[in-house]
Amino acid sequence: MKKLLLGILVIGSISSCNSDNITNPSEDVSSTTESSDLVKRGCPSEEIRQEALKNSSELRQRFAALEANTEKFANDLKIGKVLADGTVEIPVIVNVLYNTTAENVSDARIAEQIAVLNQDYTATNSDVNKIPTEFQVVSSGDTKVKFRLVNTIRKKTNTKSWRTNDAMKKASSGGIDATSPTNYLNMWVVGKMTSQGSTILGYATFPESAGLWNDGVVIAAPFFGKTGASSPFNLGRTATHEVGHYLNLRHIWGDANCGNDLVADTPTQTTANYGKPSYPLYNTCSGVQRSVMFMNYMDYVDDAAMFMFSAGQKTRMQSVVATSGARAGLRVY
Ligand code: ARG
Ligand code: ZN
Ligand code: CA
Repeated sequence: MKKLLLGILVIGSISSCNSDNITNPSEDVSSTTESSDLVKRGCPSEEIRQEALKNSSELRQRFAALEANTEKFANDLKIGKVLADGTVEIPVIVNVLYNTTAENVSDARIAEQIAVLNQDYTATNSDVNKIPTEFQVVSSGDTKVKFRLVNTIRKKTNTKSWRTNDAMKKASSGGIDATSPTNYLNMWVVGKMTSQGSTILGYATFPESAGLWNDGVVIAAPFFGKTGASSPFNLGRTATHEVGHYLNLRHIWGDANCGNDLVADTPTQTTANYGKPSYPLYNTCSGVQRSVMFMNYMDYVDDAAMFMFSAGQKTRMQSVVATSGARAGLRVY
């Protein structure tokens, strides 16, 4: 009889409290069916919870962790690190090592670079409309990652050309020490950089390096920002590409012939693309011919030829900045 009454209550959705009655045998069910009582509703969830907490240390532990986590999230929101729509705003430190004055990139150019990152990562870049229809369905849209410049540190150096050995990241080797790399994305801008004799636009550490002394992104001045930068890498997309690595994206060709970038929605492609390929471009891997996504930021094409991340890439980046992710520290000042 009681079961039947409960059934009626649920179906009629008279009760607003789903856990009502189920573990509270003391409640007088019959009285709730009197219409005069329906106006004052009783929800015993909290009382039931308190009783359960009293009886279980495991639950008490979970409760404490839950509330601590909730408070942290609320605090992150308050200080602007996690925006109301869930966007994580990464605080950025720019470390400039210059030999010539031209290499001492201006504040305006740094602002320009941060603006490019924000446009590319929120898919508000002016060339987003160039994404082929075929790839629009798998494009990331807003990745919910943004960037905010916190500080710029400048240092004149006699070093004219740098290598990819992290020397720029240590004061003891003529560089600038990272500022709290757990909590800030450190970017180093160096005048010139080579590896085995060839020009390097930039390089980055992946999330397993989170918080280490060498964690961050290095970009050579001619490829940083837009105004005064060197064509065809003068649209600020070297930073977009390197920050992609920093947030755990691999090259779209998987750094091997028909390699794997661990992203399902980026078509397997044979190798890197350069310049300004024309769409569609077909590659065959394991006997399967595919139109490849050379306009992805994680390929090697010119700045003007890259304008998208995929949804799968967004998921990888989101997992890194999540509360549980390797770069969760970027949420906290
Ligand atoms: N690490 C790559 C390089 O040094 C960066 C490529 C960036 N691509 C670009 N279009 N900006 O070549
Ligand atoms: Zn790369
Ligand atoms: Ca892929």
